[in-house]
Amino acid sequence: MSILSKISVINNNESVILLCGKESSLNNNYGLSKAEIDYIKNEIKVKEKKHVVINQLGRLVIVQITDHQKEKFAELETLRKAGCSMHAYIADAKLKSVTIVDVDGKEAELLALTEGLVLSNYQFLKYKKNKEKELFSLKNINVFSKTVSASKINELQIITNAVEISRTLVNEPANFLTATQLSKEFRKMGKDAGFEVEVLNKAKITALKMGGLLAVNLGSIDPPTFTIMEYKPAGAKNKKPVVLIGKGVVYDTGGLSLKPTPNSMDMMKCDMAGAAAVAGAMYAVAKAKLPVHVIALVPATDNRPGENAYVPGDVITMYNGLTVEMLNADAEGRMILADALAYAQKYKPELVLDFATLTGAAIAAIGMSGLVVMGNADEKTKDQLKQSGFNTFERLAEMPFWDDYDDLIKSDIADMKNIGGPYAGSITAGKFLARYIDYPWMHFDIAGPAFLTAKDSYRPKGGTGVGVRLLFDYFKNNY
Ligand code: BES
Ligand code: ZN
Ligand code: ZN
Repeated sequence: MSILSKISVINNNESVILLCGKESSLNNNYGLSKAEIDYIKNEIKVKEKKHVVINQLGRLVIVQITDHQKEKFAELETLRKAGCSMHAYIADAKLKSVTIVDVDGKEAELLALTEGLVLSNYQFLKYKKNKEKELFSLKNINVFSKTVSASKINELQIITNAVEISRTLVNEPANFLTATQLSKEFRKMGKDAGFEVEVLNKAKITALKMGGLLAVNLGSIDPPTFTIMEYKPAGAKNKKPVVLIGKGVVYDTGGLSLKPTPNSMDMMKCDMAGAAAVAGAMYAVAKAKLPVHVIALVPATDNRPGENAYVPGDVITMYNGLTVEMLNADAEGRMILADALAYAQKYKPELVLDFATLTGAAIAAIGMSGLVVMGNADEKTKDQLKQSGFNTFERLAEMPFWDDYDDLIKSDIADMKNIGGPYAGSITAGKFLARYIDYPWMHFDIAGPAFLTAKDSYRPKGGTGVGVRLLFDYFKNNY
């Protein structure tokens, strides 16, 4: 699981990636001949290339120039993507090890390039018989830098591991990853990273009257779970906890409001990506020992049209006593999240952030390019979250949250219904959730970026781990 190490001497026999601010920084120190250096400089200066690859009989020397763009965050994203390009050269050459050299002391740039490289090395081969054949060769990345500390490298190792764990949870199919199995995975993560994990079983969930979670679970043979994770370090900066909530629908068939297959059901094992995001964030925060008290809640079940499945028209009494007229069994995410949001009130949280693959409407609005967000948190908190969105290139697009939308979820016979009108679907879903909160809160609809049907640079096809880096950056910078 550990791929990064900081080194203090460069081995000139090993393949290298030279990260330079300008091509004139290149010299003979890196096992390059004068002719090679001239060639590289020409490629960069005259041909305007951003990177050049030299193959010295199997030893690769890759030169990457940092790219000056108007905005820093765009420049860093370009370097993460460059890390992905380098990964392709490395994989092609079947290199086991590579050294990244920080030629011009560019800390943030070096970390971004390294991050892109590490995240590109992710694979999910558990179910392949001949794993070895497909397994990437790269096992070891040495970082040589005078500006980047060993603790930053260690932190990057933790973050990338957490992203990988999150991706794997999403990639695991529902015939392995039941709600019970998901809670077992959380227990393992808690043991490894050092946070507490408590799993409420069906009897406990029933006793607590979590009506939304139980209703969605009615069509299922497998029991629901409700996992409570807590990380409370001695030196926490916050008096009241931050609570994370993740949608843990391990598979969404749409229930009796069945989704049409193949188009919309194929990827629905991804419907626990919100749960994977918050658990991944807990893992990274605890491993890095950030001084913040965080709790994560994950209501989990599959959503199926079983014999006893809830039917459109049913009225459900939720955990906080409010009633919901269920008019579409495919709007199940808000049913289980509502119980978790209401449960979170008992912690008197300073902030609650929920992550959910909640609506197709979020994808219709902004595609895979970012996270749809809304909520009542103060402007300062919103700005901090948005800044983390840029820092990690998990950008946030805030939706309006006007009162008008509240009318769209009114029910004739219950306190609300679980669908809105034909428009603004991600907002009406958020408005539904807002009925269960009494604290500062932001909702992150990750239906678009959580799962990709084609690789996008260092974001692989399948689960992306979106949300993990965002949350870590937010906690790191603000606590
Ligand atoms: N899990 C889906 C949302 C989703 C769609 C996630 C595509 C990832 C990719 C969610 O449970 C759902 O089905 N939402 C419905 C709500 C509607 C019935 C009000 C939707 O968006 O169509
Ligand atoms: Zn659904
Ligand atoms: Zn769903």
